Amino acid sequence: MDHFLYRDGQLYAEDVPVAEIAAQVGTPFYCYSSATLTRHFRLFDEALEGTEHLVCYAMKAASNQAILKTLAGLGAGMDVVSGGEYARAKAAGVPGERIVFSGVGKTRDEMRVALEGGIRQFNVESEPEMAALNAVALELGVKAPIAVRVNPDVDAKTHAKIATGKSENKFGIPITRAKEVYAEAAAMPGLDVVGIDVHIGSQLTELEPFRLAYEKVAELTEALRAEGHDIRRLDLGGGLGIPYTRSNEAPPLPTDYGQLIKDTLGHLGCEIEIEPGRLVVGNAGILVSRVVYVKSGEGRDFLILDAAMNDLIRPAMYDAHHDIVPLTQPAPAAEQAPYDIVGPVCESGDTFAKGRMMPELAEGDLVAFRSAGAYGAVMSSEYNTRPLIPEVLVHGHQFAVIRQRPTFDEIINRDTIPEWL
Ligand code: LLP
Repeated sequence: MDHFLYRDGQLYAEDVPVAEIAAQVGTPFYCYSSATLTRHFRLFDEALEGTEHLVCYAMKAASNQAILKTLAGLGAGMDVVSGGEYARAKAAGVPGERIVFSGVGKTRDEMRVALEGGIRQFNVESEPEMAALNAVALELGVKAPIAVRVNPDVDAKTHAKIATGKSENKFGIPITRAKEVYAEAAAMPGLDVVGIDVHIGSQLTELEPFRLAYEKVAELTEALRAEGHDIRRLDLGGGLGIPYTRSNEAPPLPTDYGQLIKDTLGHLGCEIEIEPGRLVVGNAGILVSRVVYVKSGEGRDFLILDAAMNDLIRPAMYDAHHDIVPLTQPAPAAEQAPYDIVGPVCESGDTFAKGRMMPELAEGDLVAFRSAGAYGAVMSSEYNTRPLIPEVLVHGHQFAVIRQRPTFDEIINRDTIPEWL
């Protein structure tokens, strides 16, 4: 459920007509709903009620300060994967003890900053990383809390580019080697082993892969405890999928997911962390764009929009489907025709949809890409010197620009000219 609904024939974001925002801000832009964001975060929090837990929002999905502040105000922790994300989390007022640091390539500098600024735990992904963290912690005279990310070799049944839990993926250490690696960690005086971490992939639309992974984690918890490790915290990653089409998809709900966690791991008495990104923010955001031209081609018609692959890369990168709807609600019996929906960037890959059935649209009409809140703005670039597009946050009757569109001068002035030119 989200808060982008038609009212009186117009698409609204909560209580604001989206076309009104477009008139003030210009297109294209991202628009988020505070109500949807809040609702989706709470679904996870409530799904784990009765279990000691922390929902660490995976801020890679959307990391605007206003989004982070909204979630932090609800008690969210953050899952960060870079020094930049750590800085963003801190800037949004999230205390270090609510930040977990994931990622396969943390640098010593990033480790240092997090140890000095406060950190809940590092999710360590390899033995060389463990050794580096131990060294940095000893240098600073502190102990770094760690969970080791194990790779359970489970098929997440999702797009290959976002599956992370198979043995061929770069993530974590093989679960079969876990005992050995935990023994090494326990022997390092700069590390405090607090738990186990697992994350098997993103946009999972079934619970079964989670069940397989979590059963393996349960078994490992008992095995490690038997060897004297004080495993008291389990970080179960993110990955729960969202419906990208209104019609046929019904991925499991956070409550089902929460129940699965309790069923597979509840008996261990561990504190539970989860790291959802997409489900928190995906359907809380839309991308609003304007039709620049309607072009008749040979055997096909093109809707050329002012948004492009640099603004939303998911269709080009993962063949992802995003529903695209007109801001003015079409009449129920309105005729539809197939269009290739494309952007202005000079690549054939700049195609959002092929042969998509759409009601008749004309130059200047506005459309919205649904489910664009996660991995939308954060993955955008300035390819073709197209400025990063604004982000807008709606809250009831109010809206605010939470990231401005840069001017061409601002973009150009980021470059510097060497003295010999
Ligand atoms: N935790 C870790 C360690 C992760 O690597 C990820 C996502 C998450 C949590 C959050 O997963 P989520 O709940 O959002 O599925 N750009 C791709 C998705 C990449 C996901 C990367 N890792 C896309 O647009 O589909």
